[in-house]
Amino acid sequence: MKPSPKKKPPYKRKTFYITTPIYYVNDVPHIGHAYTTVAADVLARYKRLRGYETFFLTGTDEHGQKVQQAASRQGMDPQMHADRMVVAFKELWKRLTISNNDFVRTTEDRHKRVVQDVLRELQERNVLYQASYEGWYCLPDERFWTDEEIADGRCPECGRPVEHISESNYFFKMSAFQDRLRQHIRKHPEFIQPVGRRNEVMGFLERPLEDLCISRPRARLSWGIPFPFDPDYVTYVWVDALVNYISVPGYGSDERRFKKWWPADVHLVGKDILTTHAVYWSTLLMALGLELPKTLFAHGWWTVDGEKMSKSRGNVVDPNAMAAEYGTDAFRYFLLREVPFGQDGDFSKPAVTTRYNSELANDLGNLFSRALAMIERYAGGVVSKPHSKSVKADDRRMAALAGGLYKTVGREMDRFAFHRALREIWTLVDFANRYVEKNAPWELAKDEKKRLRLDTVLYHLAETLRILAIYLFPFIPETAQRMAMEIGWPAPLDRALKPHDYQWGKLKPGRPVQKGKPLFPRMEPAATAGTDLKSVPNPAPANINIKEIRMESTQTEPSLITIDEFRKLELRVGRIVAAEKVAGADKLLKLSVNIGTETRPVVAGIALKYAPDQLIGKSVILVANLKPAVIRGIESRGMILAAGDKEVEALATFIEPVQPGLRVK
Ligand code: MSP
Repeated sequence: MKPSPKKKPPYKRKTFYITTPIYYVNDVPHIGHAYTTVAADVLARYKRLRGYETFFLTGTDEHGQKVQQAASRQGMDPQMHADRMVVAFKELWKRLTISNNDFVRTTEDRHKRVVQDVLRELQERNVLYQASYEGWYCLPDERFWTDEEIADGRCPECGRPVEHISESNYFFKMSAFQDRLRQHIRKHPEFIQPVGRRNEVMGFLERPLEDLCISRPRARLSWGIPFPFDPDYVTYVWVDALVNYISVPGYGSDERRFKKWWPADVHLVGKDILTTHAVYWSTLLMALGLELPKTLFAHGWWTVDGEKMSKSRGNVVDPNAMAAEYGTDAFRYFLLREVPFGQDGDFSKPAVTTRYNSELANDLGNLFSRALAMIERYAGGVVSKPHSKSVKADDRRMAALAGGLYKTVGREMDRFAFHRALREIWTLVDFANRYVEKNAPWELAKDEKKRLRLDTVLYHLAETLRILAIYLFPFIPETAQRMAMEIGWPAPLDRALKPHDYQWGKLKPGRPVQKGKPLFPRMEPAATAGTDLKSVPNPAPANINIKEIRMESTQTEPSLITIDEFRKLELRVGRIVAAEKVAGADKLLKLSVNIGTETRPVVAGIALKYAPDQLIGKSVILVANLKPAVIRGIESRGMILAAGDKEVEALATFIEPVQPGLRVK
């Protein structure tokens, strides 16, 4: 017998399957919906760039009480209502440049069929039973509660009144899977993230798990997927919704496809819906004999100007309005830069403007337009050739930093630490800004003998910008693609790059650059002064003592802070351009502090030490990313630093003259 020729295994690309929750269509989308979807989009784009075949799924949850009620309030049939509302979601995702590969609506046949298959399968596997239920029910949340759980007749989740009901229903034997689930969580530390949420779920699983009521009598709620074996019931909306994660990639309809994508790599969810995912979904999957998703990541919630976001407060943030005001990319950037993913955060328009002006317009936008302007002016508008003899240590350092991002950004992205990934990227942005100042191409251009050095410096800048475009693409796709094109590297960034594309030296000398409009035109704070400053929490004291900065850190770790904590401070050079006493307050001065991009009002407790006139023209250190506060009716946007214990003894200033706006590190 002839030996059979060795067959090569078929080439398999790495895959990545990511989901968002599917959103209720009872109302239009808000910042919370945008947050999860943008985060998922950033991860999907990042994985595609790194060569993963990626499946990114989002969609809408269209059945259940909430939607039925919203439709009837509008005097509409629920399907018509859903058909109308889904447009708002689809349009928003277009506007926010969301790159989802599919969009599921739970009213689609392809989904409904699978939900019914799942119910049949559960029935066959003997994990369903019918029983009569008596207890408390929260209509808006569609959840049952026990006597112990309800306080004062109100739902422990939403605080609204609960109803006493008694009815027969189908139950899923969730309790039978409690031990297995606990073991799974213990064995897989990556399963529930961040770790605090994992502990919460473990805590929840310490109490005996009840069985899950998975049906609703049709007589009470008709808007749902009919039970396949009992026409008197429809499916509980959470079971219906969770099944989308498997119905779309082909469970029960296309086994090959399903095998390719399942288990999902990550379900991104908000912290409020972690239990339904970690407990209901996991146990249902176990009952079906399916693998669990590799990771459930629960992010935090946004408040607005320090308050809970709600319709009744009238402070719901409309993502469309934000994208219109700041631009899609700036809004995306803010969402992921401002708050560590997993923690709660506060949204305010001054905070967006500050980040926009200092990081996008100043650090990144200026760097880019200066570099292109210099390439146009000193190199005829083409990428110049680096000359090995004129390469200096500084150039090599910048190239090494750019090369290192592959690992450091990758590490942070894989941990869902978007803000840290951006910080890593900004180490290169900051380096490049210093590089421009230090190497001063405008000086080199004055001396023909320095031509080779000038070419080398300009090449290093251009190549740095090309590499920045790659790493920035997942976060700010439109801008980053423009950067790549304008710098003379017209590679599409919405797909896999070759490993060497990430390496230094890929940009070809001789390619024409093309300077377009500024990436992020500077924004006047007045243009966005719509936020009600009255509601900004914790007005910061106008004390300019640095003690406050220390105090915060001493509460956790005696006197030591990490470099990351320090980096959270945005310290900038400010020039005092006006100063006046604050009426009725002996210690306070109102200063106008110029920080290059704008002049800010700052209230400072230094009137006992300095007369207003003494201060005009002085350069000081301003904590520029402090939350605005209203002090004696005056808006204060930052804090200046000084030495002194109880009393101010000396303002912190600089030996050399410095430009306002420069970063202090
Ligand atoms: N339909 C369910 C999910 C089913 S998934 C199988 C649902 N939909 S929802 O439209 O009410 O909410 C979706 C997401 O919005 C949740 O992840 C929730 O955490 C998030 N947010 C709602 N308000 C939020 C904030 N204020 N901040 C951040 N996210 C918040 O639940």
